[in-house]
Amino acid sequence: MLNREYTTELLTGKDSGKRKSRMPARIDFLQSVSGLFLALFIMFHLLFESSILLGKEAMYRLTKLFEGEPFIEGGEPLIISALAVIIFSLFVVHAGVALRKFPSSYHEYRRYIEHKALLAHNDTNLWYIQITTGFIMFFLGSIHLYMMMTQPENIGPYASSDRIYSDLMWPMYLVLLISVVLHGGIGMYRLIIKWGWFDGKDPRANRRKSRAIIKLLVGVYLLLGLASLGTYMKIGYEHQNDYGKRYVEQKK
Ligand code: HEM
Repeated sequence: MLNREYTTELLTGKDSGKRKSRMPARIDFLQSVSGLFLALFIMFHLLFESSILLGKEAMYRLTKLFEGEPFIEGGEPLIISALAVIIFSLFVVHAGVALRKFPSSYHEYRRYIEHKALLAHNDTNLWYIQITTGFIMFFLGSIHLYMMMTQPENIGPYASSDRIYSDLMWPMYLVLLISVVLHGGIGMYRLIIKWGWFDGKDPRANRRKSRAIIKLLVGVYLLLGLASLGTYMKIGYEHQNDYGKRYVEQKK
């Protein structure tokens, strides 16, 4: 929440002479930290989830590992629910603090669009993509997380593929995948620039390098995600007549 002094300073451009509020800086920091954590989570998530590319057994074993099978016989899906609750809480915090950056009126939005067309500036375009993908993720990320919180037992090579193909969740995953990879990639790039993480002795050259690495990562993750989604769809298509039947572990 902005306090009155800070708001007055923002509106008048005058320093009140009193000690400035640390709140905006704290909120900014909270946004960076929650964003960084979520971006790292997504990088691991898409990697783990691509285990389907190695086969149904690989994805099944990994799912059971996350359910704590080495310690609990048969695994406990509630562990996944708990993880999803933690991620959802972080997701809500991150989205909540990001709200202050959304255009707050149609007038503000129009002015932004006019500036964007006028400037054709790269960072302005990135900001636009981030706001748009963030808006999409508000809805689609919530749908996905709600399913993971309430139906953690329905994760596996057949259960996931049935959901994606027969329950027609693939269009949602396709849009969510593109949004989350672009949003995460741009977010990471902005964090690198903002906090000057890899600036070193030649910030310009190093920022160019960071940009190239992020572009590469975005491309790789998009391809990986699309390949996984395609594989789940293929399995779901082949499994449609046995919809609902669960995968049975192969004997070791
Ligand atoms: C603990 C929390 C989460 C769990 C347990 C989880 C689990 C899963 C699972 C099992 C799938 C495979 C499809 C299915 O079974 O329905 C999947 C796919 C996916 N998830 Fe998550 N997820 C979590 C959080 C998130 C978040 C926060 C996002 C982004 C906002 C996300 C984005 C995606 C995307 C884009 C796919 C499709 C990936 C592809 O096409 O390769 N997930 N997730």
